Amino acid sequence: MIFDLTGEQEMIQQMTRDFAERHLKPVAEELDRTKAFPFENLKKLAQLGLMGMNISVDYGGSDVGVIAYSLAITEIGKACAATGVTTSVTNMVAEVIQEFATEAIKKEHLPKICDGTYPAGSFALTEPSAGSDAASIRATAVKDGNGYRINGTKTMITSGEHSGITVVWAVTDKSARKGKGISAFVVEKGREGFHVGKNEEKLGQRASTTNELIFEECWVPDENLLGKEGDGFKIAMMELDGGRIGIGSLALGIGFAAIEYATEYVKNREQFGKPLSNFQAIQWMIADSYTELEAARFLILRAAYLKENGRKFTKEASMAKVFASEAARGVTIRSVQMLGGYGYTKDYPVERFLRDVIVTTLYEGTSEVQRMVIAREILRGG
Ligand code: CAA
Repeated sequence: MIFDLTGEQEMIQQMTRDFAERHLKPVAEELDRTKAFPFENLKKLAQLGLMGMNISVDYGGSDVGVIAYSLAITEIGKACAATGVTTSVTNMVAEVIQEFATEAIKKEHLPKICDGTYPAGSFALTEPSAGSDAASIRATAVKDGNGYRINGTKTMITSGEHSGITVVWAVTDKSARKGKGISAFVVEKGREGFHVGKNEEKLGQRASTTNELIFEECWVPDENLLGKEGDGFKIAMMELDGGRIGIGSLALGIGFAAIEYATEYVKNREQFGKPLSNFQAIQWMIADSYTELEAARFLILRAAYLKENGRKFTKEASMAKVFASEAARGVTIRSVQMLGGYGYTKDYPVERFLRDVIVTTLYEGTSEVQRMVIAREILRGG
């Protein structure tokens, strides 16, 4: 077993860390306050090759692999979680297009995702009554001439209003049994009948826009169908497996941002005539936090390794996601505790890290969904 990163992986990690320290971290607090979408930084991330990390160079991607992708998302998430989730979801959208779109669609859209022409991509699966139970979506896509007419409402869609391209799931066969009659389509920004609705007011990751998307008689040509009719649910599940590696990596970054800040703080803050770091209670918080995050890192990298090598990784991705997001949440709460009352104020960044980390146990499948996936895989003998 080899635990070392390759030279290329180390280089990408270092490059992303340097960029994140210089460009993302200094603006994270302001973005959180103003909810400003980070157009400029997303473009720069694309120029560094970080928007199509598992996309072939033939389509403008950097094709550096899943481990490098995970390392990069952790570095971005550590500096600015909102930018991290936007980058993670955009990579996932690029991957689903690469895997299931026609050659023409790939050639048209992948280079624009990878070079930042599109600020982001969106994954429009969730609906008001279909969150965890994704197979119960109600949006429809009805055959009309040489295309499909999409109707329905999607909710909680990351980067919805800023995406150049959105992958949308809709029911194409109402008579099929649950999960079997769903298809996936790419819908370009500006298509007639494609409207952006509510922009959610969120607790954290506020510079990542979260929208309602409304489809009213929105027609797309046949070539916008991903895979075959009826394959949509499986496509969503397969892509979410990969997406969960991204969200676990992002949570890990937030957890490290919090504990690294708190560790520096307790070295300098004195109470009872000595630095807080001299108290065993604080030392144990540090020890537990780093141990939990390192364990999370190994789970994430193992899932990434399996995916990178074309092996089955559904269970491992869910284990990584649930463990990393819950560990990072616990570490971040502990980091606030280490700062005492100051940790609860906006004068210090740990309250933002806490607000940012909460959603990592919710999106791309709640912790409860991850446990369902893990248990099912184990009980099936996987
Ligand atoms: N890979 C391939 N196929 C899969 C699969 C996977 N990982 N998981 C399931 N499938 C297949 C199954 O094999 C099955 O096919 P067959 O009938 O041919 O065997 C079919 O899909 C249905 O599977 P299930 O019976 O397991 O389906 P279910 O209805 O019980 O749902 C679930 C399973 C895991 C709960 C699923 O609904 C789920 O993942 N829910 C959470 C949805 C989610 O993560 N949403 C996130 C939205 S996107 C987002 O948050 C992005 C963002 O913006 C940040």
